[in-house]
Amino acid sequence: MVEVTDPKTFYITTPIYYPNNRLHIGHTYTTVAADALARYHRLRGDDTFYLTGTDEHGQKIQQAARERGVHPKEFLDEMYDWIVNLWDHLGISYDKFIRTTDEEHVKVVQSVFDTLYRRGDIYRSQYQGWYCTPCESFWLESKLVRNACPDCGRPVTWIEEDAYFLRLSDYADQLIAHINDHPEFIQPDIRKNEMLSFLRRGLDDLCVSRKRDSLEWGIPVPFDPDYVIYVWFDAVCNYISAIGYGIDDEKFNHWWPASVHLIGKEILRFHCIIWPIMLIALDLPLPKQIFGHGWLTLEGEKISKSRGNIVDPMVLSEKYGRDAVRYFLLREIPFGADGRYSEPALVDRINVDLANDLGNLLSRVTAMLEKYNEGFVPEPTASSGRLKEVATTAIQEVEEALSHHLLSDALAAIWKLVAAANKHVEEKAPWQLPNDERDQVLYDLTEALRILSICLNPFLLDATEEMRRQLGLTLETKTITWEDTAWGGLKAGVRIDRGAPLFPRLDPDVVLAVGKVESQSLDQEEISMIDYETFMEIDLRTGRIIEAEPIEGADKLLRVLVDIGETNPRQVVAGIAQHYDPKRIIGYQVVVVANLKPAKLFGVRSEGMILAAESEEGLRLVTLDEPMAPGSRVT
Ligand code: MSP
Repeated sequence: MVEVTDPKTFYITTPIYYPNNRLHIGHTYTTVAADALARYHRLRGDDTFYLTGTDEHGQKIQQAARERGVHPKEFLDEMYDWIVNLWDHLGISYDKFIRTTDEEHVKVVQSVFDTLYRRGDIYRSQYQGWYCTPCESFWLESKLVRNACPDCGRPVTWIEEDAYFLRLSDYADQLIAHINDHPEFIQPDIRKNEMLSFLRRGLDDLCVSRKRDSLEWGIPVPFDPDYVIYVWFDAVCNYISAIGYGIDDEKFNHWWPASVHLIGKEILRFHCIIWPIMLIALDLPLPKQIFGHGWLTLEGEKISKSRGNIVDPMVLSEKYGRDAVRYFLLREIPFGADGRYSEPALVDRINVDLANDLGNLLSRVTAMLEKYNEGFVPEPTASSGRLKEVATTAIQEVEEALSHHLLSDALAAIWKLVAAANKHVEEKAPWQLPNDERDQVLYDLTEALRILSICLNPFLLDATEEMRRQLGLTLETKTITWEDTAWGGLKAGVRIDRGAPLFPRLDPDVVLAVGKVESQSLDQEEISMIDYETFMEIDLRTGRIIEAEPIEGADKLLRVLVDIGETNPRQVVAGIAQHYDPKRIIGYQVVVVANLKPAKLFGVRSEGMILAAESEEGLRLVTLDEPMAPGSRVT
């Protein structure tokens, strides 16, 4: 009797993307990587589920929709269509696309919140601290770096409100123990160490709600409709809501725990600390691995919308083809580390690796099969030698690399076979061999190409199909498995069908001269330019500091009284305490934002903002070079 064993399951997720704008090539990187891994596992026969989606709540989305003057849902639907189209274009083979506005997801998030509240893991208290809207993260005063978000360096907003908190502090030791007992849990090791040292410093409880009057666009706290649930609490739940948590137990138990959450390194804290603690509190097993990959950089900076250096993946792929983009991303950047994007480097990869090494190999071998064997695969006449060994070792190396999700290493191993096959052509010079010896060499070369068409399939979609078409293997394509990468699967007598080069060589001078993709994509609208009228809405006034003193409990803030030509001076809370002695700034002529909505910081009302310049070198107040009457308009 044949023993039936459950196929191995492989559940892979990407982060769900903020659709507050179009996705760029940095986002595409995560998605393409996850796609290659999912395709590899499917080829291996693993029961595979690949999840991606969009993170549709929170301040960012609310703001983006407001700027366009539409309801968030209308805005999100439009973004969703754009993203799905992009993923289709790039051949992303996800099994589910989750949107956090999906009804099932909303129910799961509410029930998780409710359960944790009832268990005492969520409690109510007062939040006093900062909020970074681009990162959607809460920060205590002590964690700010130069008064800005420690993760992205952008300005933060003060929040003071009653709120719900998640008791992270109770779970730090348990999580440290889990990380130590499961060395593969956070990868690569450098990220694991980062998270361990973060945990060892102790955890503060996390604010997990926003008051509805400051943020409407979120999932309501089920038992307190004055509040919405913090967007990160909501978002991470997608990994379980997508597979039926609390709704379809059989499905959920089949897939959970996830095999790997693939994420970028800047969102590690949410995935390696907050999310695991939520799972522990829910009595659920933790994902087997969280892999934090590096960033795609452009001229030394992370590619991101706020830096205005985005590269549009659609434009890039239309120009060079999706396989070239997929290959470049996965080959050029050592998986786990940061890596540079540049269009010349992409063109170089196309010309060297794809056109010269791989494409040429196919052209040469099919040309020789036509010339010497009337286009048929010959019978092997002796035994395969060196090439067989190289192919077998390369496949083992690919398996080893991919078992650790190391995609660039896997491609490097595959290219050892490509190089060896090209070398085989040179060394054996089949055109000089007697017929029987040449038959063996051509058989071996065609076999190497057949194996390449399989092991490259997770990475190159159209090229591997075309390779198989040219090699006369189309009919078998639907049933190929990873096991078919074993040497010897090629059948003699197959009729090949030579075709155009797989990747035509590009002339860098020509392709790089016509519309370099990074400059094309810098759509003014997308980098948040403001128009003149918007700028004029900011009421900037000259002012004279007449009083300044520290604020108790806030080591970065001063309470400052500024005369801006009104009956009473303005009271402003300024983040300058670490740079200025309060006594020394009395009499300074500064510039004040006079129409900023008042806010309370550490219990002190702030009725404006004093302008200052800030960089690595420190912080300097913006002052006037000659005295002027307080209250003069600054334009
Ligand atoms: N919505 C959150 C994730 C919630 S997951 C429960 C988010 N979204 S994001 O759109 O800002 O980023 C999505 C992913 O894209 C992250 O993994 C991020 O690291 C990745 N990348 C964005 N820019 C990137 C680069 N320049 N390079 C590599 N990956 C980058 O975070």
